[in-house]
Amino acid sequence: MARSLVSVLDVVPTGLVEIAGRAGELLRSDRVLPTLTGLQFAGLFLEASTRTRLAFESAAKRLGAGFSLVEQKSSSISKGESFRDTLETIRATGFDAVIIRSPWSGLPLQLRSWSDLAIVNGGDGSREHPTQAIGDVILMASHFKRDLALRDAFDGLAVAIVGDVKHSRVARSLATLVDRLRGEVRLVGPPGMLADPRAFGPRVSATEDMASGVAGVDAVYMLRVQRERLAQGEWASLNSYQERYQLNRERLAESGGVQLVMHPGPVNRGVELTDEIFADHRFVAPRQVEVGAATRMAVLEWITERL
Ligand code: CP
Repeated sequence: MARSLVSVLDVVPTGLVEIAGRAGELLRSDRVLPTLTGLQFAGLFLEASTRTRLAFESAAKRLGAGFSLVEQKSSSISKGESFRDTLETIRATGFDAVIIRSPWSGLPLQLRSWSDLAIVNGGDGSREHPTQAIGDVILMASHFKRDLALRDAFDGLAVAIVGDVKHSRVARSLATLVDRLRGEVRLVGPPGMLADPRAFGPRVSATEDMASGVAGVDAVYMLRVQRERLAQGEWASLNSYQERYQLNRERLAESGGVQLVMHPGPVNRGVELTDEIFADHRFVAPRQVEVGAATRMAVLEWITERL
């Protein structure tokens, strides 16, 4: 029986340790054994993606499995076939698991309730993006030399998550996971883009003030302004956003001891980050993609119980 991964809470605490251990091995290894030979994964991508889709597709193929992409516009969903019938078609064709990217919050949970197929959430609306957050936590643990097997692995670490928190599935998954590991999380953004910190855990707070929000934190996690999800009036203007929340060299210097600047991608260059941040040695977005690729390989092994 395969396992699903719909929320970060599905891997806390044991799965996270297993996935992190395996991702670490894969990152250190030049040779990857085809541990998933004979398996077939379907990527049901109902919303645009570059990183998540490529990471899962290459993960499946590098491990010896097949990967088929089902996109909304080129599948029978565009002819009116329901998601439930689409899922049943994928199962009956002989696929072992579905990776779903959806603009609708909750669709992965719904799929899981309809089928015995393993479901992996590749990002659903504004709800969760668990595999992104798991990879990012693995990177942070490696950088700060924290043992994810410990209940309080992130005790004493502080992470500021800055920007469009309200619409960010990554922010939800990451804040929940860091809080579970006993780390401190500060959500920073304008009132129309913040979320109630109590929804994530007791160590999560929120502020509209960028300077105090990032002061003394160990990692700054910048979010993309999701213009496609913002209703009119949810933010005052691009100019005032950049003035108050854009990360630039001066702000980074003022923040104190920040060691990592992270961003899940894609970046709106010049909106949430300036170009000079890309050149800073603390900016690790490319490393997030590398760790994310290894994490997706470990996730596919974990859901199919071959880890
Ligand atoms: N971070 C992330 O999910 O990127 P994509 O939308 O390109 O997959």
